[in-house]
Amino acid sequence: MTKTYIEEKPNNTGGRWYVPVMMLGLVVLVACTVKESFISPSGSTEDYFRSREVERRVDSLMRLLTLEEKIGQLCMYTSHHDVTGPSTPIYTEELIREGKVGAMFNAFTASHNAHLQRIAVEESPRGIPILFGYDVIHGFKTIFPINLAMSCSWDTILVEQVARVSAMEATASGVKWAFSPMCDISRDPRWGRVSEGSGEDYLLCGKMGAAMVRGYQGEDMSSDTSLVACVKHFAGYGAVQAGRDYHTVDITDRTLRGVYLPAYKAALDAGAGSVMTAFNEVDGCPATASYYLMTDILRDQWGFGGLVVSDYTAVMELLHHGTATDSLSATAQAVNAGVNIDMESDFYRQYLRRAVEYGYVSEKQVDRMCRDVLRIKFYAGLFDNPYQNTDVTREKTAHQKDSYMQLSRRVARESCVLLENEGMALPLDTALNIAVIGPLADSRDDLLGSWRAAGDTLGVLSILDAMKERFPHISYAKGCPMMEDDTTGFARAREIATTADVVLMVCGESWQWTGEAASVTDISLPSIQDKLLQVVRGVNRNVVMILLNGRPLELTDVIPYTNAILEAWYPGSNGARGVVDIISGDYNPSGRLTMSFPMRVGQVPVHYDMKNTGRPYTPDNPRQKYLSRYLFTPNSPLYPFGYGLSYTSYEYSDVSVEEDHYLTGEPIRITAKVKNTGAVAGWETAQLYVRDVIGSVTRPVRELKAWQKVYLAPGEEREILFTLTEKDLSFYRADMTWGIEEGRYDVWVGGDSNASEGDYFYIKE
Ligand code: BGC
Repeated sequence: MTKTYIEEKPNNTGGRWYVPVMMLGLVVLVACTVKESFISPSGSTEDYFRSREVERRVDSLMRLLTLEEKIGQLCMYTSHHDVTGPSTPIYTEELIREGKVGAMFNAFTASHNAHLQRIAVEESPRGIPILFGYDVIHGFKTIFPINLAMSCSWDTILVEQVARVSAMEATASGVKWAFSPMCDISRDPRWGRVSEGSGEDYLLCGKMGAAMVRGYQGEDMSSDTSLVACVKHFAGYGAVQAGRDYHTVDITDRTLRGVYLPAYKAALDAGAGSVMTAFNEVDGCPATASYYLMTDILRDQWGFGGLVVSDYTAVMELLHHGTATDSLSATAQAVNAGVNIDMESDFYRQYLRRAVEYGYVSEKQVDRMCRDVLRIKFYAGLFDNPYQNTDVTREKTAHQKDSYMQLSRRVARESCVLLENEGMALPLDTALNIAVIGPLADSRDDLLGSWRAAGDTLGVLSILDAMKERFPHISYAKGCPMMEDDTTGFARAREIATTADVVLMVCGESWQWTGEAASVTDISLPSIQDKLLQVVRGVNRNVVMILLNGRPLELTDVIPYTNAILEAWYPGSNGARGVVDIISGDYNPSGRLTMSFPMRVGQVPVHYDMKNTGRPYTPDNPRQKYLSRYLFTPNSPLYPFGYGLSYTSYEYSDVSVEEDHYLTGEPIRITAKVKNTGAVAGWETAQLYVRDVIGSVTRPVRELKAWQKVYLAPGEEREILFTLTEKDLSFYRADMTWGIEEGRYDVWVGGDSNASEGDYFYIKE
């Protein structure tokens, strides 16, 4: 079995309901000539006419709308939740009735959304249906591992399935729009939101984002099982200074375009219908007021024809950023930048009309903004079937089906990364006496991570529960709280550890320490957990640790006290069973890190594709002091990007580029052999890295260009083939044009970003 990603095409072009104008080679002013920028879900001529039909319907509706009603389509408000379920304030219902609400979020359940939709469709002046959005991030009711975890599977097909299941569940409960995928490149583990993305590499992030878009939107966005995807947070949110959430982003245009934008673009190329702005500024301009981002790049250069929604109150926040003098100018800045929908600021409703009257915003711009919203609503099938997601009978049987829970388990085990396994401490024999210890061992809540949508802990097994299912001889002690300095549980932990064959410690972070507004300056285990580990190790030399957490941690001081460490992240609704599949050896771990784990937090940001510098550090260089290095810590991370152990071992050989020289445009074929040299079968992720040795601008020391997942039986050897094209080697050159350059390229193929087996080739123009 081989899964190939390098030439992966969307498996249904149906998800592509428009094609970027640039790809068609047309020069189009997108917002006002959308006809040309849209093709059909399947791309056939017939469907192209169908899209013209959509434009015609948008036109005729636009002719009926007053300015007030157009503005209404640009306003989005939240619903709330109380113990009895979802609730929407009476005054919001009143606004819907007056036609002043185009979209809602956090409203779900078929019956509640049916109620709101009925008001919009049957009682508002034009009867325009509401678009219901929700943070469906890693599942809706069945919760899958957090996104950072899922990316460690390096399996886009699996991730697409997760998004499909999420769409099946969410659409049964009134939701039509997922605020996902998050395509922010994450290189600073202090930032809590690294848990929501796919790590540090833009190729991998983009492929994961595209897979999610295909899964959410399915064959046809108007289907009652399809969600409209929303690519966020545009742009550069992952580059917040010092990992502090909402902080300033100050990166060069080269870094923005070369590193941060490609992942959003890949997800948009898969056909995503919407984009969410970022909270941060980029180059002194808040993203939500950035014409450069929302219009120049997104619409004019990329040909995006969908809608842009602000992040939560981001329009109001322009006041705090200090680019807007008052609410009126904040409103004008966002609308003029190209932000269609105001999420929760309530500024468009209050001030947009006046901004038009004062001439700060043209009515034509309001029209453009409104057209984009209506267009998506047409494509989403809302006008033809506004109640498509409100069937209470369907909802009753739509959630947590057996197959979904099985998928949750499967994704969990494919997302876990085995970090250490001294002396094959794992897997554990089921006959052993195991002491399960740690503050997270019996937690159900933490397994779901942040953004758990409609998920809950009903039926969720803790790691302890799942261990008991598989291993007959289990004892348990919590040992300590998550963070408080309380050692009263140590005695019991020591007692059961003393008599056990092996101790399984479950430590890490509380889920509330990850996600939005959860930045930290210390990424090591809380000291109480460290102390507990030392106490346990003092009485039992066989310690295996399972980590539940949402970011790379500093584990340097933990390693000496453990024999094995399994990074299990927050594995989701049926994740504990997936983790135990690995502990028991029923599944051979195959996850690979998508973010480097620093040796010390002071190395951050540390990522594999750094630059060489003018004074690169090598241990054999005699000028040791005056090199780019730290005095007391190595430059390299503890665990590099792409790293992960297995219960078997793999060996790479014969990495070979077919030719020495290529002309620009010729496909480059690279082969390598990979062999399973151990005793059990397993999935290996063969990764291809390339270095452009000399460039018109400095180039990273290596960049991931492709990967393949290969299943190998013990002793089995396979040859794998990668084919690179000009596009794969292109970048923003000194003059900011995008393309390839002549010269030497080094390549490596291996099991992580430190791969040592390699070859090289030259390109000539
Ligand atoms: C987050 C977004 C999210 C939105 C709606 C914001 O605070 O940044 O990612 O989609 O809230 O809940």
